Amino acid sequence: NSSQTPYDALGEKKLSLLVDTFYDKVSKHSDLAPLFPTDLAETARKQKQFLTQFLGGPTLYTNEHGHPMLRARHMPFIITPIQAEAWLDCMKEAMDETQVNGPIREYMIERLTMTAHHMVNHP
Ligand code: HEM
Repeated sequence: NSSQTPYDALGEKKLSLLVDTFYDKVSKHSDLAPLFPTDLAETARKQKQFLTQFLGGPTLYTNEHGHPMLRARHMPFIITPIQAEAWLDCMKEAMDETQVNGPIREYMIERLTMTAHHMVNHP
């Protein structure tokens, strides 16, 4: 129906599977893994909260952590266009594997591409 959010269209289970699949790829990507903690459980938990609200679902991330301020939270890490493309590649592969397809995929990729490029803080 007309009030369905992208979050509703994707569904909580699919989002959770997508994020877990994504961080499994991040942990194996040579341009990304060195930036992240070895145990990605907490990172994945926060990302599920964030993407839930990013896609129009309940504001789980803000309720627990306050305003996302994503660019500021990423400043401790050196993020070049290489890392942004690597992040997006991992997300697209995770979408392939978890069968996130069609309009919801296009919508997410468009917005995540903008957000990933916004995180670049180093030439
Ligand atoms: C946290 C890297 C893009 C959302 C982090 C962390 C790293 C990182 C190293 C800290 C992990 C931890 O200590 O648990 C990157 C890189 C990116 C990128 C290299 C490439 C552009 C994005 C994008 C989003 C995002 C596009 C949003 C869709 C988050 C969130 C957190 C996070 C929500 C948790 C923040 C918190 O600690 O509360 N990211 N990230 N990141 N990232 Fe990214």
